[in-house]
Amino acid sequence: MHHFHRKNGALCCEDMPLSALAAQYGTPLYVYSARTLRECYRQFAASWSALDPLICFAVKANSNLSVLRTLAKEGAGFDIVSGGELFRALRAGARADRCVFAGVGKTDAEIEFALREGIFALHAESWPELEQINRLALRLKTIAPVAVRVNPNVDAGTHRKITTGTYENKFGIPFEDLPAFYDRAARLAGLRLRGVQMHIGSQITSARPFRAAVKKMLPLALLLKARHGIEYFGLGGGLGIVYDPALESGSPAWWRRQKHPPLTPATYAAAVLPLLRSLGLPVVLEPGRGICGNAGVLLASVVNVKKTARKNFVILDAAMNDLIRPAFYDAYHQIEPLTVRRGKLIRSDVVGPICESGDTFCQARPLPPLSAGDRVAFLSAGAYGFTMSSNYNSRPRAAEILVDGQQVSVARKRETLADLIRGEQ
Ligand code: LLP
Repeated sequence: MHHFHRKNGALCCEDMPLSALAAQYGTPLYVYSARTLRECYRQFAASWSALDPLICFAVKANSNLSVLRTLAKEGAGFDIVSGGELFRALRAGARADRCVFAGVGKTDAEIEFALREGIFALHAESWPELEQINRLALRLKTIAPVAVRVNPNVDAGTHRKITTGTYENKFGIPFEDLPAFYDRAARLAGLRLRGVQMHIGSQITSARPFRAAVKKMLPLALLLKARHGIEYFGLGGGLGIVYDPALESGSPAWWRRQKHPPLTPATYAAAVLPLLRSLGLPVVLEPGRGICGNAGVLLASVVNVKKTARKNFVILDAAMNDLIRPAFYDAYHQIEPLTVRRGKLIRSDVVGPICESGDTFCQARPLPPLSAGDRVAFLSAGAYGFTMSSNYNSRPRAAEILVDGQQVSVARKRETLADLIRGEQ
């Protein structure tokens, strides 16, 4: 679900032609649709309403203040993984008592910051971390709300680098150890055992692993509720989105069956929520990509086209430093010219100007003929796009724009050359 569509051949964000935005603000340029963000958030909220959900948007997916503010106004909480993300969320108007704090290596300073602000819960991942939180809470003369992250040892069937719920991964504590772990933690005076949480991975396109993990966890959660009075079940994030439009409805059924049409917030809830009814606890969800992934695009301009006997290289002004997902995960992003280009499709390698062969967005992709000055959009770049960008090759980072109906605002200015050396001697 998103609001990037063609109108009279021009690719638009909501009603705004993207080529006008590229002309005004330059490229590379991230453009987000506020309407898409709100509607995706509301889909999660509506689909889980039976279990009184706290929906904590995963800030790592998109941490721009304008994006966070749009969601905070909807009532979203936030899933944060660093003091920096908490700082951003608070600046965007979030309430700390609607934020959860994840991560295997929180520092003392980060934990103290979260406790002072009144965080909803810290999601702890090891015994030493629980002792660390307990020590800091006692020092601050407070009680720290915590949930333990459980590793259910379920393979999420996603890319190796974004699977988190198996015993090969650094995350959570083994689910078999859970009851003894909580009994021990209950003796630490600085802790309040508020919930239990899991997160098995990202870009998950089938309900099966979610259901398998919940089924494993359910008897344990019932036990923890009875023994320790836990108040919520945290499902983490992970819901996959459509990257390849060939998987959207309208494509042939055999093709969709082969490739799993990704779940929607509603089909995900329909598959998982019934399992949790008997628990009688509210849920905490941490969707990132599922809310902002389809809500953003990256615009780029063609700098040159280089033809060789073997290849047609389309060279852009955007590079792996702007959008690293293809280089890092072999991720697929649909590439669309901003205005319709007619002509026979040409198998093209779309690349950036960075001095690495890995700076390749796609290989041998059939694309319409493109030439210098043409502009293209990478679709579904709203999650883990700008947040994973860098200054590699001393390239200033892209600007970010938020479109909300007729209103266009600069969510982040383009970096300047002076920004590149700020703080350096
Ligand atoms: N909760 C926790 C504890 C997480 O670690 C994550 C993501 C989320 C929630 C949000 O997951 P989502 O709903 O977005 O799948 N950079 C990778 C994705 C890394 C995900 C890391 N953890 C990518 O570009 O695909």
